[in-house]
Parts: sequence; C-alpha cells; structure tokens
Amino acid sequence: MSKTVVALAGLGTIGAGLAKLLCENPAAGKVLRLKSVLVRDLSKPRALPHGTIVSNKASEIVEDPEVDVVVEALGGVESAFAVVESALKAGKHVVTANKNLLAEKGPELFALARQKGVSLGFEASVCAGIPIIRTLREALRAETILSVEGIVNGTTNYILTRMSENASSYTDALREAQEKGYAEPDPSYDVSGKDAACKATILTSLAFGHFFPTDRIRTSGISNLDSQDVSQAEAMGYRIKLIAAARRTKNGQVDVEVAPVLLPKEHPLASVRLEYNAVLVDSTGLGLTLYSGKGAGPAPTAVSLLADLMDVAQGRALLVEEENGFLHRQENFECDRTQLERFYIHLSVPDLPGVLAKVAGVLAAQGVSLASVLQPEVKSDAEGLVPLILTTHQAQRGRLDAALAELGKEGWGKGVVLRIQDV
Ligand SMILES: NC(=O)c1ccc[n+]([C@@H]2O[C@H](COP(=O)([O-])OP(=O)(O)OC[C@H]3O[C@@H](n4cnc5c(N)ncnc54)[C@H](OP(=O)(O)O)[C@@H]3O)[C@@H](O)[C@H]2O)c1
Repeated sequence: MSKTVVALAGLGTIGAGLAKLLCENPAAGKVLRLKSVLVRDLSKPRALPHGTIVSNKASEIVEDPEVDVVVEALGGVESAFAVVESALKAGKHVVTANKNLLAEKGPELFALARQKGVSLGFEASVCAGIPIIRTLREALRAETILSVEGIVNGTTNYILTRMSENASSYTDALREAQEKGYAEPDPSYDVSGKDAACKATILTSLAFGHFFPTDRIRTSGISNLDSQDVSQAEAMGYRIKLIAAARRTKNGQVDVEVAPVLLPKEHPLASVRLEYNAVLVDSTGLGLTLYSGKGAGPAPTAVSLLADLMDVAQGRALLVEEENGFLHRQENFECDRTQLERFYIHLSVPDLPGVLAKVAGVLAAQGVSLASVLQPEVKSDAEGLVPLILTTHQAQRGRLDAALAELGKEGWGKGVVLRIQDV
C-alpha cells in the first residue's frame, strides 16, 4: 500500500515535535511519509530524515502533486491562511494546530474544504492533546449540548494556581510561569483572555452549530486580579479559574463568555491545577463529561496532529459536514443580561463614613441585594482608597452593570466583578 505523502509547513516548536513523532512512531511510519517542510530561514540546522526537502517557498510544497496532505504549523494568520487556502484549492487535505487561523478565517476555510471535498483536521487547535474536537464532532454528534465550560489556557491556570496555593502575587506568579516556559515574554495574549476566546469560538461553533466570532465574545482576563481576590475566594470556599463558557440560555440563545469565575472547590474544574487544561461538557443524554490533560507543548500537540494525519491516511478523516458550525454564522448574538447569577465585587472606595451605605443603596436601586460585605482593615492606597469586597444574591448582570456605571460616576465603579458559579 502506498503511503500518504505529507508536507509540513512550519518546523518550530510544534512542527519539529510532529516531525520527530513521524520518524519515531511505528504506526505512523507504516502509512505516512514526510516529503517536505516549509520554513522561513533555510540556514537553521534541522533534524529531519535524510532526503526531506526543506524549502522557503510555500508553492513548492503546497503545489507538489505528490503531496496528499499539508500540515499547517506556522502560526499567525496571514501566511497560514495563504498556505491552507492554496492547499485546499489544490484539493489537498489539511491539518492545522492554529486556533487564530480558525477563529478568524474558519468560515472561509471550512466552506472551501467542503466545496473541494477534502478534510480540514484541527484537533490540535484547542487544548493540544485533549481529544475534545473529535469528542464534540463524533462521540457527542447526536447529543444536544447544554453547556461547554473549560480551562483552555495553561498559562493563566498556572498563574492562578500559584496565586492560590502559594499566596504568590500576580506579578511573581507570572514571572515564575515565564521562567518555566509556561508564559511568553509578552504574556498579554494569554492573560487578556484572547487565546481562550479564540478557543471558545472553535468549541462553541462545534457544540452549538453556529460560528461565534471571537470579537463578539465577552472577554476579560486575569491581570487585574490581586492576591486578595484569590485568598478571599479561597476563604469563601471558591477557587478563581479563567473559564471559557458557552451555555444555552432559557430563551434559546447561546451565551458565550471568557472570564475569571469563582468556582466552588468541589466543582470538577476547580481541581485542575497548574498548566493543565480541562473541558466539562453537559449534554442531554450523557449529562456531565469531563476531558482533561496537557493542553500545550510539542508532544501533546503532535499527538493530535498525528491522529488527524492517520485519519487522512486511513481514509477516516471527516469531511466538512453540512452542520459544521463554521459554515453557519450566528446572526443574533445578543447575550442574555437578564439571567440570574451571583457576583463577587471588589471595589476601591474612599475610607469615609456613608460610603458603604451609598454603595448598598445604588445596588439596591437596581434590585441587587448584598449577601456579604467585607472591608479589610488596610491602609488606604496613594489615592486614599480602600478595598470593599461584596458578594451578591442572585441578580441580573445588566442591572448590576447599571449600578456599577452609577458608582463609576463617583470613581468607585472600576473594580473586579466576577461571576460566582454554583455547582
Ligand atoms: N506551542 C504550543 O504549545 C502550541 C499548542 C497548540 C497549538 N499551537 C499552535 O501551533 C502553531 C505553531 O506554533 P509554534 O509554537 O511551533 O511556532 P514557532 O515555534 O514560532 O514555529 C513557526 C515555524 O513556522 C515557520 N514560519 C513562520 N512563518 C513562516 C512563513 N511566512 N514562511 C515560512 N515559514 C514560516 C518558522 O520558520 P523558521 O524555523 O525558519 O523560523 C518556524 O519553523 C501555532 O498556530 C500555535 O498556535 C502551539
């Protein structure tokens, strides 16, 4: 049986991990042959099997008639899009690890793959080695998904774990994550929640059958959390985790959000530590199922890329199905601000008599009632402000936002507002 011929675009952290696996994995060796790789810099030494073509011209590898499948491991959007688009146009199957590419250009690329009758594998694009894409596309295909919630970014989970378990400050925990290689020198993409939002686009498109553009997803990150928030949450029986969540709401819409959330310690995602990822799916027939493991790194990512390649080689790769969510744009994308939820609020207020009564009054005027109030005895900051930590009973997000806007006029509304999730 002739082997499926692979061209690999990108030989950095992930591409090199895949090239190694293609050489070492016996099952892969039987059905796949790496013919060529695309890189930018031809002068770098590369560990590749003898005879592998190394090129810096995309057309050379993508238009090669012998190549059956192109793996895109370049990163970024522009060059990756050009490579994937021309590979699909040439009728080749494609496998990618690139969440940014799919979050931005997924609708075009999946439509093209469908038109050409070829597959576009993307298991490695979310949570690296955790088989969540094939779970949603295959195992749960007949299920109605009620919610998908996940810790899908290892960098932020590492930072939050160190803040909670070692009482580290945000800055110290971030520095440690950078020293250990879990955070980039510029961590903004991860800590802002953007990385998780791209993954949320992919997961929710699969789970709910509509494409949810990343820029429409309500996204907040972890950089404004301080150790007081983390320790206060712990004292109340919760753990703060950056959660990408998509839920079917009572009015039939789907609400998608990426934000730090207070999870009860007994919640299945609360015990996911350090750089690990996990996704919790709730579906009608099966109920809750949890998928967890290493969500980044060359080895787990290469495992998923290789599985997609093996599917192509063995004729099992899924073609783009009509119900693929990337093909259906979500038109009505208004989030439901009337759902009842509980909140943790950390404000900075002047240390003056009457302030607490004013805050409680503004919240009460919007129907937001307080469950607890804590004003830690600390010195006021340079602006004369002290922390005021509140939790609410169930309230509507929209009305809470209106109250915070009102407090903002006093200069007190800018604070940390986190959803408290019940089990
Ligand atoms: N790192 C992870 O843990 C992880 C996990 C899951 C998914 N991913 C995804 O995997 C993808 C690759 O990430 P990475 O960390 O491997 O990136 P990387 O280390 O920066 O490697 C990028 C590779 O692509 C090549 N390249 C980039 N632009 C090119 C261009 N215009 N023309 C030709 N070659 C080009 C580079 O060539 P040179 O070698 O010549 O510089 C390099 O070999 C990204 O989409 C990322 O999001 C990464």
